[in-house]
Amino acid sequence: ADTKIYQASTTAPVNIAVVKYWGKRDPKLNLPTNSSVSVTLSQSDLRTHTTAACSSSFPQSDTLLLNSENQDTSGARTQACFRELRFLRSSIEAADPFLPKLSALPLKIVSENNFPTAAGLASSAAGFAALVRAIANLYELPASPTELSRIARQGSGSACRSLFGGYVAWQMGTKTDGSDSLAVEVAPASHWPTMRALILVVSAEKKGVSSTSGMQITVATSELFQRRAEVVVPKHMAEMEEAIRNKDFEKFGQVTMKESNSFHAVCLDTFPPIFYLNDVSKAAIRVVEDINKKAGKTIAAYTFDAGPNAVIYYEEENIAVVAGVVKGALGHLDGWESRDISAQEAGDLDS
Ligand code: PMV
Repeated sequence: ADTKIYQASTTAPVNIAVVKYWGKRDPKLNLPTNSSVSVTLSQSDLRTHTTAACSSSFPQSDTLLLNSENQDTSGARTQACFRELRFLRSSIEAADPFLPKLSALPLKIVSENNFPTAAGLASSAAGFAALVRAIANLYELPASPTELSRIARQGSGSACRSLFGGYVAWQMGTKTDGSDSLAVEVAPASHWPTMRALILVVSAEKKGVSSTSGMQITVATSELFQRRAEVVVPKHMAEMEEAIRNKDFEKFGQVTMKESNSFHAVCLDTFPPIFYLNDVSKAAIRVVEDINKKAGKTIAAYTFDAGPNAVIYYEEENIAVVAGVVKGALGHLDGWESRDISAQEAGDLDS
């Protein structure tokens, strides 16, 4: 019998949304209530590296090791990814009798985040994107990043946007089976080589309310939410895609900040309310406002996900002002650390 070990590796980057995904219309398939846009932080230390292997010599059940720790693979999200990828593999095996029957073999997945997990960054996006592409490579699937995004989305919604580098839109889609809820490239990172991001690690603690349960309570209780999904986000989507196409930082920055504020307003309007921002987060907002006021235009933009850590976008030419002022104003605070994230490299997603 064939006891050979088949394997393939890949990496996927962390992405930070500038138009936020918040709300599921189908929690099982991770179908969102609105479209979203992200910027991929393509610096090499903010990636998940994943190796997928399969062999008849492995123990019968699938295993997943993340940062050397065994993870439960029985969860519905992980199972959905495995099932979809095995189905695609079995279709090509059915068409070519000479292909080894990898779809029937147990999988062994080994993942490492090469950024500190303690940075409190959403690692599930990079994690599921890398897991899906590593298995797709192992199975030699002829699938495009957009096709793989449909599968990664089922692991973690935001993961679908980590299949591309640069500027990525997740189109919400309208179908109930999720076949049109996919990520597409808006522009490669090389389109806007002066874009930079700074991460303020305000707290490395795990977030209080998970995105999954937070979204559920918001959808069920917030009245502001409906207006956001139906009116605010569609407007921001159009403005953001245009700002990216035109490399218009002022517009990009203003929409990014308004989006973050709209998302956190909806969290506050959730009942009981969800607070992701803390006092250091709010101080960071003030600092960015001061920088922009002094510059007489928007040269820095903050955004916050489901936690207190800030990501501040700016352009290379303003590095001294932005990074200098932020550090000067906040550097003394406890539990605070900044990281420079270059977003300039091209969408160098190796396969
Ligand atoms: O993909 P999830 O379930 O981790 O949700 C991510 C939600 C936000 O980070 C707050 C927004 C986004 O679009 O990434």
